[in-house]
Amino acid sequence: MSLAVHADKLSKVYPGPEPVTAVDGIDLEVPEGAIFGLLGPNGAGKTTTVGMCTTRVVPSSGRVTVTGLDVTEDPPMVRKRIGVVSQFNTLDRSCTVFDNVAFHCRYFGMGARPAKRRAGELLESFGLSDKASAMPETLSGGMAQRLLIVRAVAHYPELLFLDEPSAGLDPQSRIALWDVLLELHRSGTTIVLTTHYMEEADRLCQRIAIIDFGKILVCDTPEALKQQVSAETVVELKLQQPSEEVARPLRELPGVLRVELGDGVLRLFMRERDGLLPRVVEVAQPAGLRDISISEPTLETVFITLTGRALRE
Ligand SMILES: Nc1ncnc2c1ncn2[C@@H]1O[C@H](COP(=O)(O)OP(=O)(O)OP(=O)(O)O)[C@@H](O)[C@H]1O
Ligand SMILES: [Mg+2]
Repeated sequence: MSLAVHADKLSKVYPGPEPVTAVDGIDLEVPEGAIFGLLGPNGAGKTTTVGMCTTRVVPSSGRVTVTGLDVTEDPPMVRKRIGVVSQFNTLDRSCTVFDNVAFHCRYFGMGARPAKRRAGELLESFGLSDKASAMPETLSGGMAQRLLIVRAVAHYPELLFLDEPSAGLDPQSRIALWDVLLELHRSGTTIVLTTHYMEEADRLCQRIAIIDFGKILVCDTPEALKQQVSAETVVELKLQQPSEEVARPLRELPGVLRVELGDGVLRLFMRERDGLLPRVVEVAQPAGLRDISISEPTLETVFITLTGRALRE
């Protein structure tokens, strides 16, 4: 298996009066051809990790190779092989949609005519032709994001990095974005994306690394991650007074695998739920049961199980 990205004990400490360890000795393997997700809450170190992989942030220690090249040894060569869509809109507001793409192609060494041809073709295939002569600030959020992707892939990179590609997009634009990414993936591009939307990670990625406080907690397929919760059903009880006192008898009910107490709720991980819910309610009632919700394990459940916190604070 060839690796598109291979990080080995990679760390970043931002210097200052109070140095910040943003990435703390991570190991990462992204197989060629995958859609790989780096999932984590705000401040987890996602952007810093992508920054080191894309030559924008210099690692403090450890090593990372991208398409087999050490990023610190030959940054210009690495930049030729990768496309980057950063967390914030980096379109050139002083030139048209078309020129944003064409200038990018020129920057990466294409002649004037091939650059224009490439820009025209890409805008066409991404449904942006009618905006070719518009200025970037007139684009909707979804269109601007699509243009950022068009520009990032214009020099035929093998590997595309996207940092929070769907942040701030409405649900419809988000789904359109997923289609664009799946299409790029089908055409052979390896994709690394960061997100704090578990649904996005679940829908798109073949492998997911969950990152928190600069450390990778787990890395696996979405299915395997959810399996490690090893429950069929997760029941959340909102209680007036969630306490160990209520948790204890619930834990003893047959079929209940685990009970966790946290942020105003009791979470029950159950093997099955047939016949069990009435008994759960009966036990929880005296503690002031306010609400009950039932779900299947998601990546959010995995995150909560690993950290005791919700992914979206
Ligand atoms: N240039 C910098 N100088 C100092 N500290 C920084 C710098 N950039 C990031 N940090 C800190 O490093 C940590 C990780 O930040 P990073 O931006 O990598 O996280 P993130 O997972 O991308 O977060 P978000 O979801 O908010 O984008 C945070 O504590 C952040 O405040
Ligand atoms: Mg970030």
